[in-house]
Amino acid sequence: MKIIVCENYAEMSARAAELIAELVKAKPDCVLGLATGSTPVGMYKELISKNEAGEISFKDVTTYNLDEYYPIEPTHEQSYRYFMNVNLFDHIDINKEKTFVPNGLTQNPEEEGAAYDAAIEAAGGVDLQVLGIGQNGHIAFNEPDDALIAGTHITSLTEDTIDANSRFFASRDDVPTRAFTMGIGSIMKAKKIILLANGKNKHAAIAKMLDDKITTQCPATILKAHADVYLFCDKDAYNG
Ligand code: GLP
Repeated sequence: MKIIVCENYAEMSARAAELIAELVKAKPDCVLGLATGSTPVGMYKELISKNEAGEISFKDVTTYNLDEYYPIEPTHEQSYRYFMNVNLFDHIDINKEKTFVPNGLTQNPEEEGAAYDAAIEAAGGVDLQVLGIGQNGHIAFNEPDDALIAGTHITSLTEDTIDANSRFFASRDDVPTRAFTMGIGSIMKAKKIILLANGKNKHAAIAKMLDDKITTQCPATILKAHADVYLFCDKDAYNG
């Protein structure tokens, strides 16, 4: 794992965006795996600026998002589809028909989960996957557990994830208790992975990810088994 410790959030966002921009320039029809949460917002702003400046174009890029709450309408202000539109897609020259987010209203998660993974493979696989990390070490919505699931699936959120994400909702009771998420296998198939983490509240998860063990109780630890991972973090997340 390549570890890039940055002075602050702004530097982390700019450096991560630079890596994505390099890929988009080298491979204009690349497949990006995208993440939600507060962490990548600054990086998305940087990408919007680069697009506005004509440095990069997303017109041939395809994107697959990691996860979506379940059940949730795509128009709901806290849905991840809405988040992606507002924080990135509405501001860049991407073809929205090439942007995919797991269907938060699926009636058939097994079939749709398998179809999501198959579509990614058919598109040539994810060239670069962006990840955040939960305070409990989750990636996408793969929560700590005795076993982790390989493919895209419906999962239950842990109480601490519901607590952490309640800041975006009117009340804790409004946070969906389930999600439709890419699995650990889907994520590990990406050719390159960027994990972003900032703030002291991510230090414990980052420290655990960087120790010498891989454990399903901290899903991010599996990233140590991937050959091309960049960790972009700030000093607070790295040092505590
Ligand atoms: C959410 C998302 C993750 C994200 C994480 C951290 O639950 N499913 O993909 O990485 O929480 O969020 P934040 O960046 O807001 O700390």
